[in-house]
Amino acid sequence: MMKSKIALVTGASSGIGEITAIRLAQAGYTVYGTSRRGTQGVNQPFTMLALDVTSDDSVEACVNEVIRLHGRIDLLVNNAGFGVAPAAAEESSIAQAQAIFDTNFFGILRMTRAVVPHMRKQKSGRIINIGSVLGFLPMPYMALYAATKHAVGGYSESLDHELRTWGIRVSVVEPAYTNTKFDANLLEPDEKLAEYESIRTALASRMKDVLAGADSPEVVANTVVKVALEDQPKLRYTAGSLAGRLKLLRRFAPSKLVDAGVRKDLGL
Ligand SMILES: NC(=O)c1ccc[n+]([C@@H]2O[C@H](COP(=O)([O-])OP(=O)(O)OC[C@H]3O[C@@H](n4cnc5c(N)ncnc54)[C@H](OP(=O)(O)O)[C@@H]3O)[C@@H](O)[C@H]2O)c1
Repeated sequence: MMKSKIALVTGASSGIGEITAIRLAQAGYTVYGTSRRGTQGVNQPFTMLALDVTSDDSVEACVNEVIRLHGRIDLLVNNAGFGVAPAAAEESSIAQAQAIFDTNFFGILRMTRAVVPHMRKQKSGRIINIGSVLGFLPMPYMALYAATKHAVGGYSESLDHELRTWGIRVSVVEPAYTNTKFDANLLEPDEKLAEYESIRTALASRMKDVLAGADSPEVVANTVVKVALEDQPKLRYTAGSLAGRLKLLRRFAPSKLVDAGVRKDLGL
C-alpha cells in the first residue's frame, strides 16, 4: 500500500527536510524533496525538484509537476524555513519581518493552497508543518521567528478543523534546538542598534554552542514519519526530549515561574 503514497517535502537540501525525505522514502513513500537550487544529490532515495516557497509561480510549477507525474499527493511536509540571528525585535526592519514571514508562514500557505485542491479531490491527505518550541514558548531576542511559528500553529489548528471534513488531517511537529545548518542560514538583523550589541554577541555564541550539542535532525524526521503513519493524528507533536519537557513546563507550570525561568536562563 505504501508504495503508491506520494510525499512532497519542502526544504530537503539539508537538515531536517533532507533526513525526513530519506526516512519517508525508507518507509515506502515515493518522495519529492525541494530546494531553491533543485540540485539532485548523489544516491538520494528521493527526487529533488526546484522550489522557492516565496514565489507563487514556483509553488504552482512544483506541485503541478508532482501531479503530472502521479496525479496525487498524499503527504505534504512544509519544512522550508529560516531564522533571524538572535537580536532585539526592534533591530529588524519591516521588510526583514515580511521576508521571514514570506518563507516561514506564507510559504506554508502557498504550498497548502496549491496542494489541498488535489487532496480534497482524493478525499484524503496529510499535511505536516514543521513548527518550533518557539511556536508555544516565545523567547526574547527571537521575536520574529517565534511570531512566524505561532502563526504556523494557529493556521494549522484552524485548517485541521476545516479539512477533516475532506479526509485531510493537519499536524504540527515542534522541535527544540536541532543540530543542522540552521545557524549558518540565519539572517543578520538589518537595523542593528549599539544598545543591544553585547546581548547579541553573547546570544550568538550561546546559540552556536547549543545547536552543536542539540538533537540530531533524525529525531525530528522520525517524529514526522510516525505522525504521517498515525491513523488518528493529533494536532501537535513535540520532537525530542527537550521539546517535550518545555511543552510540559508551558502547560503545567505557573506562568510567573516560566517567565522567571526564561529570564534566568538567558541571564536577563
Ligand atoms: N534547527 C533548529 O534548531 C530548528 C528548531 C526548530 C524548528 N526548526 C525548523 O525546521 C525547519 C528546517 O530547518 P533546518 O534546521 O533543517 O534548517 P536548514 O538546514 O537551514 O534547512 C532549511 C531548508 O529550507 C530550505 N529553504 C529556505 N528558504 C527557502 C525558500 N524560500 N524556498 C524553498 N526552500 C527554502 C533550504 O533549501 P535551499 O536553501 O536549498 O533552497 C533548506 O533545505 C525550519 O522550518 C526551521 O524553522 C529548526
